[in-house]
Amino acid sequence: MFTKKVGIVGVGNVGSTLAYALASKGICSSIVLKDIREDVVQAMALDISQAANAAKSHTIVTAAKDGSDFKDSDIIVITAGIPRKPGMSRDDLLLINAKIMKDVIDDIKDNAPNSIIIIVSNPLDAMVYAALKCSNFPKNKVIGMAGILDSARMSHFIFDKLGYGAGQIQASVMGGHGDAMVPLPNYSSVAGVPISELLSSEDIEDIVTKTKNGGLQIVKLLGTGSAYYAPAHSTSLMVEAILHNQKKIYPCAVLLEGEYGYENIVGGVPVMLGSNGVEKIIQLDLNDTQKEQFDKSISSVKELTNTLDSKFFNK
Ligand code: NAI
Ligand code: 2OP
Repeated sequence: MFTKKVGIVGVGNVGSTLAYALASKGICSSIVLKDIREDVVQAMALDISQAANAAKSHTIVTAAKDGSDFKDSDIIVITAGIPRKPGMSRDDLLLINAKIMKDVIDDIKDNAPNSIIIIVSNPLDAMVYAALKCSNFPKNKVIGMAGILDSARMSHFIFDKLGYGAGQIQASVMGGHGDAMVPLPNYSSVAGVPISELLSSEDIEDIVTKTKNGGLQIVKLLGTGSAYYAPAHSTSLMVEAILHNQKKIYPCAVLLEGEYGYENIVGGVPVMLGSNGVEKIIQLDLNDTQKEQFDKSISSVKELTNTLDSKFFNK
């Protein structure tokens, strides 16, 4: 029997949408939900379990009474945290969410020490760094979700310009999940045709700008929080790739130790995901401009992790 267990900590917009996506597609056999909002998490477990039954999915969805319900989880996804509000930068969230991350990781270490952790909470790259340091898990088992989302946003904006090619667009974004992220037009295509053959350089520049602002655009329009459908779907792809040992290549935030010339810093790069988590980091041959942009993006992550080191880990 296919028995795979996924824990989700933080069952707000992203966590609940992720649970719904996993349960309705039957990607795992059980999902355990945990949140500090005890009534809400029970409501979510009931509602999503009933959705799974409507979909005739075998996935069982329950609310955790405490951390021990995460025992034997294969993957734990952490979306717990405070979402970005209008006027608030991702960086403002740093210290509040680092404290939440530490509490959650302590629970995981006690109850599911062999699990793979996927981080969604912002500021993403810094939270991956915090999770790595708090858990001491091997670097292949602590992975951040952002690149799939940012690439999906870039695909959306490529379609917006072209007006055709939906479902055939492959876009690529690297770097930190922040304003300095690095969309890569020369690794982006429509059915294998490079976008430079289909769009002017002005249009491509506009796509790059819109991609970088994609999260903020939704924050401003929503007025109550941030995006969740695309983030949840992107996370479900990572869960599926790991649980089903798919060996798929996705851009994810991982600890770099020598790759791209960086040491002890988290950044978004293409990786291969399989049952061991990150099974390979792919090193692209970036041109000078891209290297410069990647460097800038990593520097902004470094500022946050330096703050964590000095103010949170008290180095
Ligand atoms: P939300 O506010 O709807 O959900 C957050 C949930 O975390 C709430 O239900 C809250 O009660 C819970 N929570 C807070 N502290 C907790 C704790 N100690 N233990 C368990 N649960 C706890 O927020 P949303 O929209 O679901 O976003 C979640 C996080 O993901 C935010 O930090 C947001 O910025 C981030 N995010 C990251 C993305 C990415 O690309 N990496 C994309 C979208 C959101
Ligand atoms: C996003 O990009 C808020 O990081 C989140 O939508």
